[in-house]
Amino acid sequence: MVLPAPQRTPILTDSTTQTPLESRASGPLSGKVRVPGDKSISHRALILGALSVGETRISGLLEGEDVLNTAKSMQALGARVERTGPFAWKVDGVGVAGFAQPASPLDFGNSGTGCRLVMGAVAGCPITTVFDGDASLRSRPMRRILDPLELMGAKAGEAKEGGRLPLTLHGARDPVPILYRTPVASAQIKSAVLLAGLAAPGITTVIEQEASRDHTELMLKHFGAEIISVNEGSHGRKIALTGQPELHGADVVVPADPSSAAFPIVAALVVEGSDVTFSDVMANPLRTGLFTTLREMGASIEESEVRGDAGEPMATLRVRASKLRGVAVPPERAPSMIDEYLVLAVAASFAEGTTIMRGLQELRVKESDRLEATAAMLRVNGVRVEITGDDLIVEGRGHVPGGGLVATHMDHRIAMSALVMGLAADKPVKVDDTAFIATSFPDFIPMMRSLGAEFS
Ligand code: S3P
Repeated sequence: MVLPAPQRTPILTDSTTQTPLESRASGPLSGKVRVPGDKSISHRALILGALSVGETRISGLLEGEDVLNTAKSMQALGARVERTGPFAWKVDGVGVAGFAQPASPLDFGNSGTGCRLVMGAVAGCPITTVFDGDASLRSRPMRRILDPLELMGAKAGEAKEGGRLPLTLHGARDPVPILYRTPVASAQIKSAVLLAGLAAPGITTVIEQEASRDHTELMLKHFGAEIISVNEGSHGRKIALTGQPELHGADVVVPADPSSAAFPIVAALVVEGSDVTFSDVMANPLRTGLFTTLREMGASIEESEVRGDAGEPMATLRVRASKLRGVAVPPERAPSMIDEYLVLAVAASFAEGTTIMRGLQELRVKESDRLEATAAMLRVNGVRVEITGDDLIVEGRGHVPGGGLVATHMDHRIAMSALVMGLAADKPVKVDDTAFIATSFPDFIPMMRSLGAEFS
């Protein structure tokens, strides 16, 4: 069946629709906050709820644009998705392989995770789906997802070079289980294969050389799937999923997102005299590489009240302003802090000494080329920085001159990192556009203001 060409809404990139903002040196930050729900868990709760039989109740869902697009796509595929209160959602699923053909293209906006996970989820259903997104998502490689899904029997229609969006995916009528070695440590690739494997008979196996976040595995277990994960090599994992399970609806409590907490945490470290407490921060060790690194740099991050829910531990973190020193971050730590290098580079700029971050090739294919964008953000604010191959080297001099205008490139994390930098820099730091912050942390600006941050 031929589906209509996707209708695009204008993208917020020209100067008339941009919302710039400036941050400036602020007094001590203080208070206690809960940052929004984890983005990775929120996407997965909606998708697994939709693939289950019966009711899934989610509390603490991240109501950011990325996740709302996933909610809309689940509805378009036949699940009933309903908001029952603030951050509280209910999903009535269609069961494994039960998705119906959507009437129109699915638009994932800025979200690579939403798009790639849903590609996996539909790949085992005999339906045709058109995937699309904004200019940032349209520039990101999808071949890495399509390759394993085609081995399982799905077929991608004609797409741009690299399998870029918009593209049509024809799901497999009879999906086959595969053993797949992921070419890069990517939870998105792993999750897409596992979600497609739900519809296949037999065992679908994924082997990753470096362990990536394991939320899909933990949540699949929570929803009733049989899935076994064992260590492989020195840092890797081998995951085996038994296909065609009956997934049953479940309750999911979404912990606070450590990748969002990263911004106010670094702000609290670099703004003199600060003392901020963060509640319910997810403490899954495959997500906490930034906290390990910051502690190595001398950060005061005190953990208490560690507890777990659905296999996902969480903790309270008390963060106090600290003198930081440069460190070397090993490449094998990258998967556990892949979204945090931008804000780590900000912390490194305020540190004394050189910070070397190795093995950052994956940063080039995120919402923007984050390796180049991070270097540009630092340079325009007077920080010495260098890219050597896939490594980023930041010369910390204990203070940041500031005074720069940072280009955000439709990337929420660039905007938030630059605003954090301005809170402790000698001169204010301006970002050209804050609009994309709404994809992951809609309340970032008011929450930071409530802690004492000055933006104008
Ligand atoms: C995510 C995985 C990561 C990360 C993204 C969220 C996920 O991407 O950058 O923000 O929820 O699976 P990769 O797995 O491709 O590194």
